[in-house]
Amino acid sequence: MKLSLVINGTDQIVDCVPSESLFEVLRRLGYHGVKFGDEHGLTGADTVLLDGRPVNSASMLACQAQGHHIATIEALGEHPHQGWRVSEGLHQIQQAFIESGAIQCGYCTPAQILAAKSLLEKQPSPTEYEVREAISGVLCRCTGYLKPVQAILRAASALRGETPLSGDGVQWDLGGWGRETTLPPSTAGEPTTQLTGTLTRPKVILAPQAQAWKVVGKPEKKLDATKLAQGKPAFTADIEKQGMLIAKVLHSPYAHARIRSIDVSRARALPGVASVLTWKDIPRVVWSTAGQSDPIPGPLDTFSLDNKVRFVGDRVAFVAAESAEIAERAIALIKVNYEVLPAILDSADALEPSSPRIHDEPEYVDFADSDASRNLAAQIRIDIGDVERGFKEADEIFEAEYQVPKVQQAAIEPHVVVTYWDEDDRLVIRTSTQVPFHVRRMLAPVLGLPVKRIRVIKPRIGGGFGGKQEVLIEDVAAHLTIATRRPVLLEYTRDEEFTASRSRHPMRIKMKTGVRRDGTITANEMYALSDTGAYGCHALTVTGNTGHKSMALYVGDGEYRKAPNIRFYADVVYTNTPPSGAYRGYGVPQGYWPVERHMEKIAKALNLDPIEFRLKNALRSGEYHPFSTAWNEGREPRPEIVHTVGLEECVQQGKAAIDWDGKYSNASWHAGAPSRSPAQPAPRVMNSLGQPLRKGIGVAMVMQGTAIPYLDMGGASLKMNDDGSFNLLIGATDLGTGSDTVISQMVAEVLGVPLEDIITYSSDTDFTPFDKGAYASSTTYVSGAAAVKAAEQAAERIRVRAARMLEVADPALIKLADRNAIAPDGRTVALAEIALETLHRSDQEQIMGIGSYVSPSSPPPFAAQFAEVTVDTETGQVLVDRLVMAVDSGVIVNPLTASGQIEGGMTQALGYAICEEMRYDEAGRALERDLDRYHIMRANEMPELTTIFVETFEPTHPFGVKAVAEIPMDGVAPAVGNAVRDAVGADLDVIPITPEKVWMALRSKYHSA
Ligand code: FES
Repeated sequence: MKLSLVINGTDQIVDCVPSESLFEVLRRLGYHGVKFGDEHGLTGADTVLLDGRPVNSASMLACQAQGHHIATIEALGEHPHQGWRVSEGLHQIQQAFIESGAIQCGYCTPAQILAAKSLLEKQPSPTEYEVREAISGVLCRCTGYLKPVQAILRAASALRGETPLSGDGVQWDLGGWGRETTLPPSTAGEPTTQLTGTLTRPKVILAPQAQAWKVVGKPEKKLDATKLAQGKPAFTADIEKQGMLIAKVLHSPYAHARIRSIDVSRARALPGVASVLTWKDIPRVVWSTAGQSDPIPGPLDTFSLDNKVRFVGDRVAFVAAESAEIAERAIALIKVNYEVLPAILDSADALEPSSPRIHDEPEYVDFADSDASRNLAAQIRIDIGDVERGFKEADEIFEAEYQVPKVQQAAIEPHVVVTYWDEDDRLVIRTSTQVPFHVRRMLAPVLGLPVKRIRVIKPRIGGGFGGKQEVLIEDVAAHLTIATRRPVLLEYTRDEEFTASRSRHPMRIKMKTGVRRDGTITANEMYALSDTGAYGCHALTVTGNTGHKSMALYVGDGEYRKAPNIRFYADVVYTNTPPSGAYRGYGVPQGYWPVERHMEKIAKALNLDPIEFRLKNALRSGEYHPFSTAWNEGREPRPEIVHTVGLEECVQQGKAAIDWDGKYSNASWHAGAPSRSPAQPAPRVMNSLGQPLRKGIGVAMVMQGTAIPYLDMGGASLKMNDDGSFNLLIGATDLGTGSDTVISQMVAEVLGVPLEDIITYSSDTDFTPFDKGAYASSTTYVSGAAAVKAAEQAAERIRVRAARMLEVADPALIKLADRNAIAPDGRTVALAEIALETLHRSDQEQIMGIGSYVSPSSPPPFAAQFAEVTVDTETGQVLVDRLVMAVDSGVIVNPLTASGQIEGGMTQALGYAICEEMRYDEAGRALERDLDRYHIMRANEMPELTTIFVETFEPTHPFGVKAVAEIPMDGVAPAVGNAVRDAVGADLDVIPITPEKVWMALRSKYHSA
């Protein structure tokens, strides 16, 4: 049928079939700003404006849009500089999103901007509450919504012709504590108290050289923000290839079964089907899908396709067809005869001798202490000091058991890959991955290709959070391209993300702690039973981190501080559930829920101040990381001193920001202080039944790691251009975090140029140097150090050539600043002049630099996490009103991107605390299969977020940095749990903290009282 559509003000006649959605038609026409997030429009990534109102384009037929005006992000502005053509530049909302740091991965950004545009056209002076309501239909997994809300308020102000108020938008270097900014009354006449203040660098402890930095430490705009604000075709699926096929996967309906036979004849005969592959059609190569360095520290227990399925959602067959619809019909035509086997659905059953064996394939390859005959993917036994003696020396022993759930990374962009042969018969894999170089190395044997015949391209990524540290679907598309010789696109649906992707390891954790009455910890023990699901990807390393980074924080005091007694044992077991894997925090959030709840209980039981008790026993600078003497992810341990610990300062700053002293022991505050969440239009002290709400405040202290020492390696290369600008090539993988930007800032600082003079290209295995990928909080630290080395090499050549041009005897006396090389007497020569001299005029050479870096240390960042809650004593509902996080992440290279990381991380962690959980029925089928039943935080449900950076200068890095990306995942759940305890006296041992659990805890407390 032919449709007449008005798109962005232009009439278009479009050929389409009646069942095509508006989303499909717009994407086909090249409007790449419209994104796929899920099948039901629940992410809102597919939002467009229809007659000025936001609609989900995937949820309506294209024919329904006939006669209406459709607007996509492409209708807004464009880059202001278009050569000789005069452009009106970007729209004010796009501009505000860029300047406020509202764009991280940028996948949700076009939809958020369109929703904002619709709001501001109706309501030029919205309240913060109205802004949050307006964008609540667009889910963002990166930002925590704070900066998008600030951006929209800022854009509203600009569109009204006002100069943005001093409190409107992001505040840097406040030099004081949280400010509320009262904006002018809205047209509705309500006062508009803006609660979106972000505190950064309220107290900065900087090395002297940092004072003079011009680019490092500044809130520079993200390098990719401009293109993302325009919805440019930057993501994996934003590419058209002639003859491209669509791939689909047939997934197992059974948790554990052997495939007796598969009949694919009808599927193969269906017109439009190009290929159907089963386990019989491809080589049987055992591997691990965990995107890690070689050798992969885990068992090899996976095949691209196997004759056995081990969870509901496991792979059975692959199909490639001319369209998604044909591929789905072909999937339905495949007949499989299964021999259903008994399944293990509870990790507690996995080690029972009578349990079925999940991995009985002869090709299985053990790593370390995995034992497939016992369903054991990994075993960890770490003893530091003499734990039994420590328990004997304790006055009290505290024991308890805790549980943490399986949760999803839920990146708004699902897993997606495009594969094709290039003109040199090399296989190109364009994929949304955190680990492009691992993809290339790991897939080579699986596909029967040498590494040199594979090229992996990583475009922009719509969020990863560890879920894309897995080689999850790249092999599927690659097998189909090999089979058909044609390009293949495979994009997971949201349902597949929940049933056939990866997740955070659920664990049951026992704690046993010996304490003296003065609060000295004499011994601390943790046992974790960790559920890796059907495959052992990341089994050892994730679970190792659970103890390594949470149990290292509290070493004891006095003589125990010198020789801590710590034990961490874990069994990581197979079950017939979807595999666990990497998820931001990498095992550490699982550890801090029990550790920090346990510390709180001990402090209460011994009548100790919870903060002083923790600080008394916490690790201090100059001490050994206790685990470094005993464990290194299955490799040889190497003792390591922790040089910088800003924890005490974090505590002081965080306490002041949340007014701990005014609230913690204040009975009237607990009883009656109104909730002040920005998600609520009005404060409340009673629930709807007139029963009391109770306030509570809680704290947790946490540490993480920065990279894996002696293993993680990053590389960079740099060359100087004719105009004095530089091309920087890095293998580091920016998955929306802003790592391209912060690495470029460090390079710009070394070269004495503004950030705009660094043109950065990241992650293409053909062009950029190797990098292990974006995980383990290593990018700024490791990849950044590699880039600094490359920049220093180039800077050295620039100084040599400048010294010759300026007739200065010693090149070391030349300084680089403001795009100039500067002699000691003040004479200058521009870098552009040096570039022309060296490239064209005399003694020609390409000024360039290369660097690679592997770190001998893993300096931990530290943080104090505070939470303020309101608990409904009748229903058990917990409203988190405020989260304050004070972080020591070393020097902050870019407070705009770093604070975005903290806000987004706290928001994901809040979901872990109160609402996210993946559950299964008695047959192993997932109960949560979409973003309706699996709830992630929306803009109108958020508490107030406050970020404080307490800077230390980490001496192992040229710019003193440590990691920032993962630590916000660690402390929110226990801080909220401790705040609930503070509010109503109920001790929760299991997350998420649902109203049911609080209600039950309250009832059992009343009954036992
Ligand atoms: S910036 Fe919103 S999903 Fe990534």
